[in-house]
Amino acid sequence: MRISSLQVYGYRSIKSIDLKLDALNVIAGANGTGKSNLYRALYILWAAASGQLAPALAQEGGMTSVLWAGRRSKLDDAVFRIQVKMDDLTYKLECGCAPASARGFMSYPGWFSNDPDIKKEEVTTDFRARKIHLLKRKRGVISARNMDGRPIEYPLTGSDCESVLSCLREPHLFPDLSVLRREILGWRFYHHFRTDLGSPLRREQIPTFTPVLSHDGYDLASALASIMAAEGEVNLKKHLNNAFPGAVLKIDMEPRTVAFTLQMPGLKRPFNARELSDGTLQYLCLLAALLTERPPNLLVLNEPETSMHPDLYAPLAELLVEASKRCQIVITTHAEALAARIEKMTGKRTIQLEKTDGATSVVGAGLFDFYEDDEED
Ligand SMILES: Nc1ncnc2c1ncn2[C@@H]1O[C@H](COP(=O)(O)OP(=O)(O)OP(=O)(O)O)[C@@H](O)[C@H]1O
Ligand SMILES: [Mg+2]
Repeated sequence: MRISSLQVYGYRSIKSIDLKLDALNVIAGANGTGKSNLYRALYILWAAASGQLAPALAQEGGMTSVLWAGRRSKLDDAVFRIQVKMDDLTYKLECGCAPASARGFMSYPGWFSNDPDIKKEEVTTDFRARKIHLLKRKRGVISARNMDGRPIEYPLTGSDCESVLSCLREPHLFPDLSVLRREILGWRFYHHFRTDLGSPLRREQIPTFTPVLSHDGYDLASALASIMAAEGEVNLKKHLNNAFPGAVLKIDMEPRTVAFTLQMPGLKRPFNARELSDGTLQYLCLLAALLTERPPNLLVLNEPETSMHPDLYAPLAELLVEASKRCQIVITTHAEALAARIEKMTGKRTIQLEKTDGATSVVGAGLFDFYEDDEED
């Protein structure tokens, strides 16, 4: 399922935003305009579905850090909301801080008070222009439509900071929720490939068939070898040559070790991963991530051009456009030249972010009001 819209309210610098998404989406903007915050907003939904919501928010400082710190009217709740629409399913998550009276545990009041308190969680579908709730969670009361389409009280097995999606224990009884959870868990995120001198991807690895590159690229050699083994070699070579004309990638596979080398034209010997530049390794990681034999339904890349010279933007744009035929892609970037090149190839306008009064907004779109609607079925 492809995401057709993403709405975010009250999360970090995103006071309120509404994005329509396509097959390949480029989000650009200057430092601090909120690109990574949008990347994180999608990641938060993935974390919620996988049972990692509280740790994911804790990485950012917990609830008190992630709530929009700008002015809000007295009527606005101190919550963040993130909503995605995928085909005819819409998932919305709303989190705030627990009220003081309900914080902590009986024996230890006040403990874990910076965890998210899920105020609302909804899955809706459109049926004959009406919004039908497949899941409705509000202040601890949860109802879900079962396989017969009847809303029943849902027994939550988790706590107030765990999503219903992550706690689904009987997926066959709630097939729509189960489909949605599977879709969200299928999203893949790459934020930062480690290319520093101590990075594990610069060392020999233990070979294992790796159709999906790890989030920090540590298993790059196995991932590149897996693309080759799974008949992706021609494509891999094509895109490698676009970036580094004449370069030859070789895999040295032993039963207990795997490594790769890159032979550059004009040099007498190939270079191993310890010797390659940060930008070259970054590009190889992107090749492995984007040419995977097992494409996800959504691939989200945060600033993939890191360490790259602008000469690599053209081959990277081609790689992204080609990969977007197999999976939906969202990238954030500082590189206006990369964004412009993709825009030229796809005809789809770059989503340009700016900051006004501390709030992230899309250039030319104004602020969007993500009001609550409590429309009944
Ligand atoms: N709770 C909050 N309320 C308001 N603004 C916040 C909050 N938390 C973080 N910010 C702001 O969000 C901005 C950072 O956004 P983000 O990291 O998404 O920027 P970016 O566009 O990715 O920048 P860069 O190009 O430097 O990576 C900072 O300016 C920070 O002050
Ligand atoms: Mg950023």
